[in-house]
Amino acid sequence: MAEAPGGFNFDLVQRNALLEQKGMKGPGFTKTGTTIAGIIFKDGVVLGADTRSTAGTTVADKNCEKIHYIAPNIYCCGAGTAADTENVTGMISSQLELHRYGTGRDSRVVTAMTLLKSHLFKCAGGGIYPHGSTDSLPYCTMGSGSLNAMSVFESGYKDGLDRDEAVELVTRAIRAGIYNDLGSGSNVDICVITKDKVDYLRNHQYLQGKPYERLHPMAIPAGNAPVIATRRFDVRKYVDVGPVPEAMEIA
Ligand SMILES: *[C@@H]1O[C@H](CO)[C@@H](O)[C@H](O)[C@H]1NC(C)=O
Repeated sequence: MAEAPGGFNFDLVQRNALLEQKGMKGPGFTKTGTTIAGIIFKDGVVLGADTRSTAGTTVADKNCEKIHYIAPNIYCCGAGTAADTENVTGMISSQLELHRYGTGRDSRVVTAMTLLKSHLFKCAGGGIYPHGSTDSLPYCTMGSGSLNAMSVFESGYKDGLDRDEAVELVTRAIRAGIYNDLGSGSNVDICVITKDKVDYLRNHQYLQGKPYERLHPMAIPAGNAPVIATRRFDVRKYVDVGPVPEAMEIA
């Protein structure tokens, strides 16, 4: 048997270039957009995210959620293809839940991270990258708006921030992405995790609402529209079948 050549193999790159020369279309790629950020403060961590979801150049959802539940004491910001971030965080949270039933203990961040990175590395898909590398940092940003957010952290971060200062700083960082990065937009979601509790501040800043609220379902009070006349109409035959008879017995 021939010995494996070892090292990197670029055959497919050459093949794809050749195929494209002959007019075949390459697989293309999906551009994703997001601003997510997290910092450590005196008593815990604060996570933040924008709420824009895009499909190509179109805004698909103005108010999606990018801070995902992992365990009662662990949340995770997701940047990338929404289907992937939702599936992967869903899988990890269910594995951790079973692990908690088995051990009777709270989930640990290191366990979540090990599950995540072994999955991501296998699939070669903040600190956690789609390829499976991780980092432990006092402050961190990811996504297409990460530079906008990082510039706010680089100038505003200091050790030992209190809760309000930390929420304010992360909010400003996400806002930098919302206003300066086209892949990010709409509102600021915040999640504050401390030893004993989690405050998920959904739409902590609702920046890009409309002058009217869309209500689902529309709450129109009874008697809102005055009745001028009533007629019966046979919808199958499209004919007017005369005035409405005496009030129906409904008791
Ligand atoms: C994730 O995707 C896999 C298959 O690709 C599926 O079996 C699984 O149920 C999904 N999990 C969640 C939580 O969406």
